[in-house]
Amino acid sequence: MKFEIWTEKYRPKRLDEVINQRHVVSRLKVWVKAGSIPNLLFAGPAGVGKTTVALCLAKELFGEHWQENFQETNASDERGINVIRGRIKDFARTKPIGADFKIVFLDESDALTPEAQQALRRTMERFSNICRFILSCNYSSHIIEPIQSRCAIFRFKRLSKEDVKAYIKRIVENEGIEIDESGYSALFEISEGDLRSATNLLQAASTLGKITRDSIYEAASLAKPEDIKEMIKYALNGEFDKAKEKLYDLLINQGLAGEDIIKNMHRLIYELQIPNEKKIELLSKVAEYEFRLNQGGSAEIQLEALLAQFMSLS
Ligand SMILES: Nc1ncnc2c1ncn2[C@@H]1O[C@H](COP(=O)(O)OP(=O)(O)O)[C@@H](O)[C@H]1O
Ligand SMILES: [Mg+2]
Repeated sequence: MKFEIWTEKYRPKRLDEVINQRHVVSRLKVWVKAGSIPNLLFAGPAGVGKTTVALCLAKELFGEHWQENFQETNASDERGINVIRGRIKDFARTKPIGADFKIVFLDESDALTPEAQQALRRTMERFSNICRFILSCNYSSHIIEPIQSRCAIFRFKRLSKEDVKAYIKRIVENEGIEIDESGYSALFEISEGDLRSATNLLQAASTLGKITRDSIYEAASLAKPEDIKEMIKYALNGEFDKAKEKLYDLLINQGLAGEDIIKNMHRLIYELQIPNEKKIELLSKVAEYEFRLNQGGSAEIQLEALLAQFMSLS
């Protein structure tokens, strides 16, 4: 059997299959029906459908000719002016095939230098009769104003837990894999609504058998919040042996990185049921030991010392 990357295998081919982003899709469909689009600027976080929607647009507008009339470039590979003067201009100036215009899709266009963005603006103007540009970025404010004003701006939303589940469920059913409710929750927690990261995690975990919260965290090599919380609680209760045992379970059995453990400790301190003054003391200790770890201190020794500090503060 051929090995396929699920992020490509399950990428929607039509706008109707795109999950959520309804405000974007409904407006775009009107243009597709009319057979033409203006220049577009897609802004939003990673893995929420910006590239997918651009590809769907090309397929729906150009049909069988979509590949000849669509060019994708990632601006973060080459951020300077040469990519605009070379690859992009060369494509934009040649005649479309079996269509009225072509589409240049420029991913991560906020990575372009301001000088390159100026060149892009001139290219957009010069070939406006035969070429449309779709620019994707994380923040539209990183794009120079003259480009923004030449584009219809679309803001893509972070996807919800239900959205992630709906998308993942289709893969699960098609691949015939088993996953429980805790697995879906873990996928959402870790991916934070980024479907690329959720799909990659699912594919990695699928080799470990039935998918659960544990196998997702294992595939991600990330600490489970409940484990870290338990360790902190033991330390604050003065149960040093138990806290230490938990720490060694995380570091040795689960093979987690000290940096990951300490980052989670930092995050989870806010959720503890203790007075704010106490939280502040704990946080400043965490900051101190995080620095020591970054300076090359051993994870075992530094984290054990941090737990000892927690005990003395409890
Ligand atoms: N809204 C969405 N609907 C359906 N699939 C999506 C959506 N957002 C992301 N994906 C999936 O996640 C992966 C990355 O999507 P992509 O469109 O490349 O994200 P980006 O916003 O970073 O450009 C693809 O496999 C795609 O199928
Ligand atoms: Mg993209």
